[in-house]
Amino acid sequence: MDSEGSTERAIKNELYSAYLYLSMAAYCEGKNLPGFAHWLKVQAKEELGHAMKIFEFMVDVGEQIILKAIDQPPANFSFPADIFEKTLEHEKKITTMINNLVNLARQANDNPSIVMLQWFVNEQVEEEKNAAYILETLKTIKETGPALIMLDRELGKREG
Ligand code: FEO
Repeated sequence: MDSEGSTERAIKNELYSAYLYLSMAAYCEGKNLPGFAHWLKVQAKEELGHAMKIFEFMVDVGEQIILKAIDQPPANFSFPADIFEKTLEHEKKITTMINNLVNLARQANDNPSIVMLQWFVNEQVEEEKNAAYILETLKTIKETGPALIMLDRELGKREG
């Protein structure tokens, strides 16, 4: 599947996702919203796990791994809806890239990659759902006041 470094790009994309969410978390920490920051830090750790899943798969199938450079993420956001708009937008891009990888693997009759990628296909459904849920919730409440604080506390309960 990886004739043009597409799996290394997938590793890089997952690591960039971690970097992006960590940057968002740092922004939320600076705004005294530790619940949002916590949710985003858990998300960043999950993305590291995604990168490692692809890395270990490449090791298992004996592909050479040459890691790509990771871009600098944005540091400033228009809190809070902006963060989750960007999160949803980013996850949609990742979904497209995963789907492209699935297509490449199918063209190459690469069954191990197809099976591995199925996990990511399912994960992306969850990722988009979670980001859309928070974004929609934010749209229905005012961006200041008790409702925002309640959402912050809910996000702060995420395990991970
Ligand atoms: Fe690894 Fe958020 O997708």
